[in-house]
Amino acid sequence: MSVHELTTADLQDILEYSKTLARKAGALIIAGSDAITSAAGQPTIEGKKNSVDLVTEYDVKVEELVKSEFKAKYPEFGFIGEESYSAGVRPALTDVPTFCVDPIDGTTNFIHGFPFVCISIGLIYKRRPVMGVIYNPFLDHLYFGLKGGGSYLLKGGPSALPLKLPLSLSAKPLPTLHDALIAVEWGSDRTKKTMDAKSSSFGRLAGDPEQNVEGGRMAHSLRSVGSAALNFSLVAQGALDIYWEIGCWPWDVCAGIVIAEEAGGVVSGSRDAFLESCKTGTFGDVTEAILTGRKYIVIRGIADTPNESGREVQQRLIKDFYETVEEVEPN
Ligand code: IPD
Repeated sequence: MSVHELTTADLQDILEYSKTLARKAGALIIAGSDAITSAAGQPTIEGKKNSVDLVTEYDVKVEELVKSEFKAKYPEFGFIGEESYSAGVRPALTDVPTFCVDPIDGTTNFIHGFPFVCISIGLIYKRRPVMGVIYNPFLDHLYFGLKGGGSYLLKGGPSALPLKLPLSLSAKPLPTLHDALIAVEWGSDRTKKTMDAKSSSFGRLAGDPEQNVEGGRMAHSLRSVGSAALNFSLVAQGALDIYWEIGCWPWDVCAGIVIAEEAGGVVSGSRDAFLESCKTGTFGDVTEAILTGRKYIVIRGIADTPNESGREVQQRLIKDFYETVEEVEPN
């Protein structure tokens, strides 16, 4: 295998290895959860940026496991992991294939025993996300995708039949934001500026314009499952229509980007990055700037209508979304 030119067969092997490793990490996550649940006192939880940006000893243990196994199997590949990054290991992105890993995405859920927790393993190759594996060991849901190879959900063990994403036979329509189930997250930036911007954005997305919510789109509802990677997976599946968040990191979204795109979804970045991509005809290209930009929006695959292609609808709805919400800078 040449690190400079990975073949489709190489990528397929990496995907299979990553799926096995994700299950191994999943077993450690479950063991950690059992230990936390049965502990009489408080588990060892630390705040990174503040008291709601949490890390446990299991985040670190799972990352060490995944990092060492990848290092042994693919010694020439790079590795970016949430916990290594927090500890100060911050490699720049290069053309070398690089694993981008969140060992436990949904750490707050993990601590509380809320079963939306996963390991997220992405691969960046030539500065673009090309492979994703996301495994929720509590529900035994394993999502995976390879650029150009589709994305799938495996439920019920490694020998189950993979279900092609989205789960519907073909993409469903989505006429307006009014028809959408939208994922948003509170994140860990709890400053007044961010809380005000988020609260009014969420209020406009959900609020009824006929009941005095100015600019309200009255979406079907808003959801917060507490894991960026699972939000992307649920958009790929078709259970969520849109997910928007400012403040998460490449390891939260790298794997999910591939899984959502391969299911017909489109991923974009900030409002400016989105508007620019519409002008330049690059809408849907997740460039390095978008991948590292910490502002993400993803919309599921949408059926063509007699007047608009599915792609045009995706673009129109993101435009409308960005006219509805207020953007803040991540901290
Ligand atoms: C967090 C989760 C959360 C999202 C945050 C992420 P972590 O990741 O994905 O849903 O709102 O932005 O940082 O800390 O649980 O790995």
